[in-house]
Amino acid sequence: MRFKKHCILYCLSMLLGFLVSAQSKTLSESKRLANGKKVYSMYCLACHQADGNGVPRLNPPLAGTDYVTGSKTRLIDIVLYGLTEPLEINDEVYNNPMASHAFLSDQQVADVLSYIRNSFGNKAGMIAATEVKKQRNRQPKK
Ligand code: HEC
Repeated sequence: MRFKKHCILYCLSMLLGFLVSAQSKTLSESKRLANGKKVYSMYCLACHQADGNGVPRLNPPLAGTDYVTGSKTRLIDIVLYGLTEPLEINDEVYNNPMASHAFLSDQQVADVLSYIRNSFGNKAGMIAATEVKKQRNRQPKK
């Protein structure tokens, strides 16, 4: 009888622990997305716009593009090393270069990319600061 009671208590505390840790995970994710939004407003919004739709023929949209929701390493490289090749997105051609934003910290890049991957109707996985660090430390392609 006593054993059973302990067992129930034990299970309950395990469940509680699980719920608390699941909760803090989503909290830190939402914190990171909020930080990403701040970085976006400061360093990306002027060109890519608040709604992520960009400016036709000048700055490409971030909403629904494969560059944003596809390969993480390609996306990280765009922010760290900039982009100069012409792009065609939704039947518009973009020729302006985008400058490197390597002055942002690994955490800032990870947060802003996680933010754009989960905003403007996009839904893709978060990017970790360690993944950014890895791209920063590799030899840039010439
Ligand atoms: C001065 C304007 C400017 C700023 C600031 C800027 N971008 Fe860009 N971005 C561009 C242009 C122009 C291109 C297209 C480059 C090309 O055609 O080679 C581009 C391309 C991109 C692409 C790939 C194409 C697409 O639309 O999916 C991504 C992703 C991107 N930018 C993300 C960002 C992020 C994140 C920031 C902020 C850290 C940022 N950009 C800041 C102008 C800008």
